[in-house]
Amino acid sequence: MAAYDLILRNALIFDGAGGEPLEGDIAVKGDRIEQLGAVDAAAYEELDLTGAAVAPGFIDVHTHDDFAALLYPDMSFKLLGGVTTSVVGNCGMAAAPFPAAAALAKAFHPNQKLPEWEGYGGYLDHLDRHPASLNVAVLAGHGTIRTAVMGGATRVPTSSELAQMQAVFEEGLAAGVIGLSTGLIYEPGRHADTDEIVAMAAVMADKGGIYATHMRDEGSGLLESLKEAVEIGSRAGVGIQISHHKAAGRENWGKVEDSTQFIESAQQQGVNIHADQYPYTAGSTFLSAVVPRGMNQAEDGLGMMDAEGIVIASTSIQTEWEGKSIAELSDHFKLSPQRTAEKILKTEPGATVVLHSMSEVDVQMVMQHASTMIGSDGLPTLEGKPHPRLSNTFARVLGLYSRELNLFPLQEAIHKMTGLPARKFAFTDRGEIRPGAFADLVVFDPATVIDQGTFTDPNRYPKGIDRVFVNGVEAVRQGQHTGARSGRTLRRNL
Ligand code: ZN
Ligand code: CU
Repeated sequence: MAAYDLILRNALIFDGAGGEPLEGDIAVKGDRIEQLGAVDAAAYEELDLTGAAVAPGFIDVHTHDDFAALLYPDMSFKLLGGVTTSVVGNCGMAAAPFPAAAALAKAFHPNQKLPEWEGYGGYLDHLDRHPASLNVAVLAGHGTIRTAVMGGATRVPTSSELAQMQAVFEEGLAAGVIGLSTGLIYEPGRHADTDEIVAMAAVMADKGGIYATHMRDEGSGLLESLKEAVEIGSRAGVGIQISHHKAAGRENWGKVEDSTQFIESAQQQGVNIHADQYPYTAGSTFLSAVVPRGMNQAEDGLGMMDAEGIVIASTSIQTEWEGKSIAELSDHFKLSPQRTAEKILKTEPGATVVLHSMSEVDVQMVMQHASTMIGSDGLPTLEGKPHPRLSNTFARVLGLYSRELNLFPLQEAIHKMTGLPARKFAFTDRGEIRPGAFADLVVFDPATVIDQGTFTDPNRYPKGIDRVFVNGVEAVRQGQHTGARSGRTLRRNL
């Protein structure tokens, strides 16, 4: 009888906590790591990993995979990039209440029949019964909850509406959601005032939930928005996660110097605040979030954008528009950029776009900051031309920003995608390689790992990710999905 199920031998081990890598063996039994170092025992399967690196599986702290995890349970677009845990429900858009959630999900999955459930508990149970190939942790979404209770109302809620919204969130908390997200730039989140969000977030005070926010303004009002986030977290008594930390729009480039400084001083005053970031100078969102603000105006949080920099990423019918910029389509239609965008929205209300709006200097400054974790913010519009961040985020940080540009050592890059998020979101026994931790592991080649997806060819997966284990089960072998579905739901410790 072998002592272990699996021993990974002679690997360069990154512990996820940020320590120097060590060469050694990792012994796994069942779903856990049991021994580390020089393991003098036998296993049913032993792999010699000389020359390869092993890290904890990557935790994608910012995703929109709520429906994708059920529609595409193999989750190849994440797993083949080394991701073993996806935090769904960001930017105010989440899995319940179902009718409001499904209306939004239709934009990402226009041609799919959506599975159904009731409440956050129903969603989590559904995932338990139909597990994906990776672990899923769930944020409740303020926007989805508001829509369910108030429809499209643009006013503040009455006290009874607010109580109903709180009750929906309470159901989620009791079922195990890990926090609440907002999308204060979107409908309907932008109609919520600070007090409304405080009242919602306060429901999770003393319950360990995190307030994750796509702030009101990531352009000229970046600092004011950050202050509001800190006010909300402090008044509600909860930890704060700033989503996709950036300064959007050329006229706002450089503002991240102040925003990183602001986060740092808040941390020094004892505020539990961090941020996440995807490693690109282009963002991605709904075209409908861009147009009402006027295409060429520095208004309302998106920053100045030009028509060349706004590229259609996904549509439901007019797929020939995908990959084309508003400038190109405006030439084609012989309409102004604004009219062009309005015309597109008439036929394609759920169209998503890639927005080229950030500076590389800013991206690097945010990434180097100790408060920053990595999160893809990928939109799983697999049928269109999604932003390549969907599949390539983690490999790009490792290969481009750590190895090639030398922004930080590999152990620090890995910490930002493993140990740091696991601690922030209280994923017990995950994000680190040590005896007793879950065997979520990624085996990669530190000399060659790199992103391969581009804006024109976004569905190419990264290179150099060799094997992935999820809860001790091999889900990727030699770069190929094994078909394993060993992911679990990560419920908040109740
Ligand atoms: Zn967002
Ligand atoms: Cu998002």
